[in-house]
Amino acid sequence: MSHKPIRKAIFPVAGLGTRFLPATKAVPKELLPVVDRPLIQYAVDEAREAGIEQMIFVTGRGKGAIEDYFDIAFETEITQRERGKDLGALEGTRLMPGNAVFIRQQEPLGLGHAIWVAREIVGDEPFAILLPDEFMKGAKGNGCLKQMVDAYDKVGGNLVCALEIPMDETPSYGVIDPGARDGVLTEVKGLVEKPKLGTAPSNLIVPGRYILQPEVMKILETQEKGAGGEIQLTDAMAAMIGTQAFHGVTFEGRRFDCGSKAGYIEANLALSLERDDLKDHIRAFAQEELAR
Ligand code: G1P
Repeated sequence: MSHKPIRKAIFPVAGLGTRFLPATKAVPKELLPVVDRPLIQYAVDEAREAGIEQMIFVTGRGKGAIEDYFDIAFETEITQRERGKDLGALEGTRLMPGNAVFIRQQEPLGLGHAIWVAREIVGDEPFAILLPDEFMKGAKGNGCLKQMVDAYDKVGGNLVCALEIPMDETPSYGVIDPGARDGVLTEVKGLVEKPKLGTAPSNLIVPGRYILQPEVMKILETQEKGAGGEIQLTDAMAAMIGTQAFHGVTFEGRRFDCGSKAGYIEANLALSLERDDLKDHIRAFAQEELAR
């Protein structure tokens, strides 16, 4: 069966990033680097690898630096070129004209609202969502969204990435009520946002990667506030279960929750240990440091 291709992805980047204050007072949290690439760059690379053509950034006040980041760095490029310096580090950072769209979420009403803000740009086609502070690291060329698109090509409908975590951490996430499992696919029978401790239907959470059918926008239009008094994407998705196919996809790779300080530091450490120019130094330093 052939399904409508996934050409567009939404990156909700309007959040204030208060957990990283004061670092995020004047710099969007999405531009904090993991080694030497901003978090948002990894998410955009992941989307591009999955065949996404149009990147839609839902931004807010104080997030203008993200738009500049994906533009031409005119002064830097000219200066480096004049000095005969290599510009390889900027590869993938300039989005093609027309392939990047920036739109503002004017009020922090929740993730569901942020997605709904992009409804006219998404139009009548299925689309992806990537939450950039969830850093999903797959094998080169086979990132999380690519793995999900491959699954979508088989089953169509709606898919979320599905990840097992310790049960006591489920109150921070959207949680799946799982049905039958077949390989990497798990049927989604229900979804609940931030369940109270001890009430989660499973320890399978949604770590911020989605492929959704456009009908979700209609549901979001009238979606009531849910957990935390916010309009929740999870609630709108839950309303589609039973009317359309809905699956979880188990991702092969590593996940770093870069919305938390510990996860962010772990990502920096893990990635620097993979880099030829850094790994020997960092490994030796870490060993010395731990022995102190
Ligand atoms: C959001 C979603 C939640 C998801 C999580 C992943 O929550 O609402 O369903 O599991 O991202 O990080 P937030 O982190 O914005 O509270």
